[in-house]
Formats: sequence, C-alpha cells, structure tokens
Amino acid sequence: MTMAEVKIVDGLEARHMDEALRVVHDAFAEKFRIGFRHADDLIRLFRDSVDTTSCLSALVDGQFAGLLTIRTNGQEFYHLNMGALFTRFSPLRAIRMLLNLLLLNDGTKADEFVVDSLAVDPAYRGRGVGTALLRKAEERAAAMDKRTMSLGVVGENAGAIRLYERLGYRRTQTWDGYLVRLATGSAEVHRMEKQVGGIGQDAVGEREVA
Ligand SMILES: CC(C)(COP(=O)(O)OP(=O)(O)OC[C@H]1O[C@@H](n2cnc3c(N)ncnc32)[C@H](O)[C@@H]1OP(=O)(O)O)[C@@H](O)C(=O)NCCC(=O)NCCS
Repeated sequence: MTMAEVKIVDGLEARHMDEALRVVHDAFAEKFRIGFRHADDLIRLFRDSVDTTSCLSALVDGQFAGLLTIRTNGQEFYHLNMGALFTRFSPLRAIRMLLNLLLLNDGTKADEFVVDSLAVDPAYRGRGVGTALLRKAEERAAAMDKRTMSLGVVGENAGAIRLYERLGYRRTQTWDGYLVRLATGSAEVHRMEKQVGGIGQDAVGEREVA
C-alpha cells in the first residue's frame, strides 16, 4: 500500500463510530484500564456524545483505518454525557470511569492544537496512515491559527516517539510519579510539541511575555 491510497477526511462517519472507538480503546487499553476495561464500555458511553467534527478519519479503500482526535480550548472529541454515565452504568463503574477521564485530561491553551489520541487499526500500521493523519492535523491547526501542536506519549512507546520526532515534534516536558502511573500505567509521559503556521519559537516566546 502506498501513501496515495490513504484518504484523510474531516470528522467521523456514524457507520464507523463503533469501529473507531474500538480501535482507540485497544490502542490505549493500558490507559483505559481503570475505568474502561472493555471497548464496549467506551462505545456505550461515548457513541452518541462525541463531537465528530473534532477528529480526522483515515480511510483505505473506503475502509476505516485510523482516527486522530483533536482537543482545542473550544472543542474536543470526547464529550462526557454525565446523565449517560450514571444511568447506563452502576455508580461504582461510573466513578471509575470519571476518575479515568479526569486523570487523562489536562488544560488546553488558546493557541494550542492537541492531538488527543492517534490510533491506527493494527491491520494498517506501518504504511503511512499515522503520518498522513498527523500531516492533515497540522494543516487543520494552521488553518485555525493555532501555533502549537502538542501531544502526550508514554515513555515506552518508542515507535510512536520516533514517528513524532521524524515529523519534527520535540519533547518539552516529562511527567512522572504516582498519578502518572495510576493514569497511564507507565512510569513517565512526555509532552511533545511542534510549532505550526509559520510561527517560530521566538515569536511564541515574545507573545507569551506580552
Ligand atoms: C503509533 C501509530 C499511530 C503509528 O501509526 P502508523 O500508521 O503505523 O504510522 P506510519 O506508518 O505513518 O509510521 C510508521 C511509524 O510508526 C511507528 N510505529 C509505532 N508502532 C508501530 C507499529 N505497530 N507498526 C508499525 N509502525 C509503528 C514507527 O516509528 C514507524 O516508523 P519507522 O518506520 O521509523 O519504524 C500506530 O502504530 C498505533 O496506532 N499505535 C497504537 C497507539 C499509539 O501508540 N498511538 C500513539 C500514542 S501517543
């Protein structure tokens, strides 16, 4: 398969919803283990509340191949439906899910475009799908006048880190400690960033001082 066969589209079609949430769940099973042990839990909670405009889908020959979810300070893919949380699950399960979601979330700056999650179906990995999703996300960020692409990646995920570095992302911060292990199952999480929209590091620094 070549890059040309990968099509990246804005949003997520309803017919691909369950499959997409399953691919995301399975890619991040360790992170979801506190609240969402099974992909069906994630599907049951989010299938009718996600913001399908805050993501990009990858299609190969019309088949769903991967999803990149987006978070900005105005929008995010994972919209929590509190009513559904407490009516569809037992109180204990609901609290576990809430804890999981709270631990995995952090603030978003006005000029930031967060790649909240990037997951490619295992059957399509290593063929340029992840790269194509990230490149399209950068175009979308620039069009929205965002300056900083950011993402979090666990220290063990050497393959993903290599992919991000190849595309120009650099580590800017590392978190470790008890909460990081509780939330992600990993000893450390790196924040990686890339400047987009033709704005250099200096300009961002000046703007922050102003
Ligand atoms: C990381 C991931 C999104 C990459 O998607 P992809 O479509 O395979 O990426 P591409 O084909 O564009 O690029 C391949 C690169 O991805 C990395 N990679 C990570 N896991 C891989 C896998 N299982 N198979 C192939 N490549 C993988 C490699 O660095 C590879 O680069 P290389 O040629 O230097 O080895 C995908 O492997 C995935 O969904 N993994 C599980 C979820 C995950 O780790 N997401 C990122 C967390 S922040």
